[in-house]
Amino acid sequence: EDLKRIELVKSKIGEFPDFPKPGINFRDIFTALIDGQTCRALKEVLINYVKKNHPSIDAVVGLDARGFLFSFTIASELGVGCIPIRKKGKLPGETHKVEYILEYGSDVFELQCGGIKKDQKILIVDDLLATGGSLKAAIELIQKAGGIIDGCLVVMELNALNGRKALDGFIIFDKIIMG
Ligand code: PRP
Ligand code: ADE
Repeated sequence: EDLKRIELVKSKIGEFPDFPKPGINFRDIFTALIDGQTCRALKEVLINYVKKNHPSIDAVVGLDARGFLFSFTIASELGVGCIPIRKKGKLPGETHKVEYILEYGSDVFELQCGGIKKDQKILIVDDLLATGGSLKAAIELIQKAGGIIDGCLVVMELNALNGRKALDGFIIFDKIIMG
């Protein structure tokens, strides 16, 4: 059943060459979400995966911005916390900060101090793994805050970019792989 759902999601993901810069082939998760049946299929796949593989997490951390779609979906279904990591200047209050490099630029990620309690088990989610720079920065921030990473979960993995290697040892949801 889940394999069929994954095939459906995969078939609907949009590809936009040369966006946002020449040479980048942009994979657009929102193209898939336009279709209601696909929304439901993706939600079910994610929830089934997390219940099976990360049954005892305390919170889900989603990465700005597309990761938020999935962090709230998962956290609300499991009844655990939903915590954002945001790009610079968007979170109020005191924050932990880390600079990181993306496939098409660099940025700063922030995490609010106090959101994660010491030794809480955290699942990090995002739509896509490219170079792994974003997830790596997120891992650093969460560890700085005292959290324990239970795993990382992405909907899509661009295996040509070797992001998995950059993340050595962290669990990646790899059922939707694109070239
Ligand atoms: C994209 C994507 C991931 C990240 C992956 O986000 O949603 O967060 O890039 O790339 P990496 O593995 O090379 O780090 P982007 O920074 O474009 O932000 P957005 O979600 O706000 O569009
Ligand atoms: N983030 C980094 N690289 C990306 C890509 N090729 N498509 C969508 N989001 C991305």
